[in-house]
Amino acid sequence: EQDKFKQVISHAKEYGYIFSSSEIYDGLSAVYDYGQNGVELKNNIKAYWWKSMVQLHEEIVGLDAAILMHPNTWKASGHVDAFNDPMIDNRDSKKRYRADVLVEDYVEKLEQKAQKEIAKAKKRFGDQFDEQEFVTTHPRVVKYRRQSKEILSRLAKSLTDEDLADVKALIEELEIACPVSGSRDWTNVKQFNLMFGTKLGASAESASDLYLRPETAQGIFVNFSNVQKTGRMKVPFGIAQIGKAFRNEIVARQFIFRQREFEQMEMQYFVRPGEELKWFEHWKEVRTKWHKSLGLGEENYRFHDHEKMAHYANAATDIEFNFPFGFKELEGIHSRTDFDLKAHENLSGKKLQFYDPELGENYVPYVIETSIGLDRMFLAVFSSALQEETLEDGSSRTVLKIPSVLAPVKAAIFPLLKKDGLPEIAQSILKDLQWDFNVIYDEKDAVGRRYRRQDAAGTPFCITVDHDTKEDQCVTIRHRDTMEQKRVPITEVKAIIQKDIDF
Ligand code: GAP
Repeated sequence: EQDKFKQVISHAKEYGYIFSSSEIYDGLSAVYDYGQNGVELKNNIKAYWWKSMVQLHEEIVGLDAAILMHPNTWKASGHVDAFNDPMIDNRDSKKRYRADVLVEDYVEKLEQKAQKEIAKAKKRFGDQFDEQEFVTTHPRVVKYRRQSKEILSRLAKSLTDEDLADVKALIEELEIACPVSGSRDWTNVKQFNLMFGTKLGASAESASDLYLRPETAQGIFVNFSNVQKTGRMKVPFGIAQIGKAFRNEIVARQFIFRQREFEQMEMQYFVRPGEELKWFEHWKEVRTKWHKSLGLGEENYRFHDHEKMAHYANAATDIEFNFPFGFKELEGIHSRTDFDLKAHENLSGKKLQFYDPELGENYVPYVIETSIGLDRMFLAVFSSALQEETLEDGSSRTVLKIPSVLAPVKAAIFPLLKKDGLPEIAQSILKDLQWDFNVIYDEKDAVGRRYRRQDAAGTPFCITVDHDTKEDQCVTIRHRDTMEQKRVPITEVKAIIQKDIDF
């Protein structure tokens, strides 16, 4: 798994998909740039989402709200008070950890190490082995468990009640297994707000504190009435938006999965109070279909229904994807009640209501939200597409099987040789196709190598012009996934590609 993840990261760089931000200055942690192929894939994912959410739904319209918003927005939404992550520092290593990640990863790793020692000893001593005695006396096992216990007891001091139960149970288990007192390397847990602060205005006195938005959703809520009235929208209706969001994530890891600057594709669906759970189920289904339509492998998806919920939600589900580091959240579907609109009504003093002509009454609509990270979707597409294949002749190839509809470049056009008028024919095909989709021209190296290059870059079609083309006006078209080659008239090439990439 670790190897696959490393391969994904290096392949993304080698083929112009993702670079570290400001790499010549050694990069900026948890910030990334999308290269020449990355930007195309990203744009195609956005278009695929937008078409299915906005274009194909008469009752959903789009919005592009500003990243900077009035600071009261974040008071009303609860982000100023509650958008925190509990953090804990290790004094020895001077590293900072997110509390939940620590429990999940670090403590688990320590326990794995302890288990390895136990297994080794069991093998060595056989029947003679006394586990209870071993775990209380063996220096390394004692050390691992002591470290775990110390971290957990620090966490226990400042975690919420919900999280505390789990942590306490873990401590108890460790206490039974290893009754030793802890070291002093961990600080107490502190709460860190995840919003990025910035200033509006030039002089220090007049400047006011702003935040970079940590989610796009609030831009939709504050525009609820603007859109509803000017678009004459009737409940149920939705507002969709794609845009940047910023979070000062403390733990920078997992490549573009957890970034400080990222993009969200969110849709808020406004419904009658009392009907929200029906719509919640509806959107779970619609979003599942969207994912399945891309063919990334149904086994790579699973749902995770939340038992514990944010204070404003009455139902929540994550759509998880099997990333190279395991199943993790890709998209969230939340029933957010009327929490946000009500909070903005209260703080702004402006009504955010809908007059329902059928019921003959005004109400603050309830909201179902679908929220997917664009970068996470990118990673899902990219990592599931990257494959090593062994071919019939025993050789292997690296192929990036990005769904054709999302592929950055749809076709590469090759002249078989750099002479005899073949480049000119290839160029004229390129000029014709480039009005409809992204195509590239490549005349370097043997054709076989050019095929492999395009396989690895994710290009679904290769079109080769040879000497016969001059006679029969036909070219060879090869598909990336099947590697099948067919001879077709030049005039049919566009339609063949179009059919494969249509959505
Ligand atoms: N408006 C609801 C909301 O923001 P969230 O679960 O905090 O909910 C929604 O975020 C989605 O945004 C996540 O499912 C994930 O795909 C993406 N996301 C959140 N934090 C991210 C980060 N630091 N880097 C990349 N994507 C992130």
